[in-house]
Amino acid sequence: MSSSVSVRRARARDIDVIYDVIRPFWQEGLILERTRDDIRHSLDHFRIALFDGILAGVISYHDYGKHLKEIRSLAVKKEYSRRGIGSRLVKSLVRSLKTADSPKIFVLSYSPVFFEKNHFTRVDKETLPEKIWKDCINCKDADKCGETALVYMK
Ligand SMILES: CC(C)(COP(=O)(O)OP(=O)(O)OC[C@H]1O[C@@H](n2cnc3c(N)ncnc32)[C@H](O)[C@@H]1OP(=O)(O)O)[C@@H](O)C(=O)NCCC(=O)NCCS
Repeated sequence: MSSSVSVRRARARDIDVIYDVIRPFWQEGLILERTRDDIRHSLDHFRIALFDGILAGVISYHDYGKHLKEIRSLAVKKEYSRRGIGSRLVKSLVRSLKTADSPKIFVLSYSPVFFEKNHFTRVDKETLPEKIWKDCINCKDADKCGETALVYMK
């Protein structure tokens, strides 16, 4: 039997599993730390991917207003990687964020190749609104930051 992937909005009962999926990645420094309270407060922004009914990946976004959204907290459990789950999550979230206002959708990521495969293009951080990159100036890793800024272009 072939495996199936589905994406849906997160619900309160998913909070603990979402936390468990993203924790190893923020512990590695690949994504921002999220607490359970954090997840609870922005639950409406989370989508989850189910692989054969098991929660295998999550994605979220930060809302800077109707013209600007940032993809955050994208994580796919290591044992489910390279099965198209990350791409399904990005596609589904981007589709729901694309409204009549055509917001700019961006991401700051250590996995730029993955996002390029999903219709994002690399941009200079400075082309994003100042509120996004002003914290970088004071960051201790500013000189050696490996994060790439990308914007959805399709
Ligand atoms: C990045 C991540 C979300 C990708 O999830 P995934 O489900 O494995 O991605 P997909 O299977 O949809 O990958 C699609 C394509 O992207 C590319 N890709 C995926 N992961 C990649 C990686 N780590 N390095 C380079 N290319 C990658 C591949 O070309 C892949 O296609 P292929 O398998 O046919 O070669 C996942 O590896 C992850 O959770 N990483 C850690 C957290 C992170 O960096 N999140 C992004 C922060 S914004």
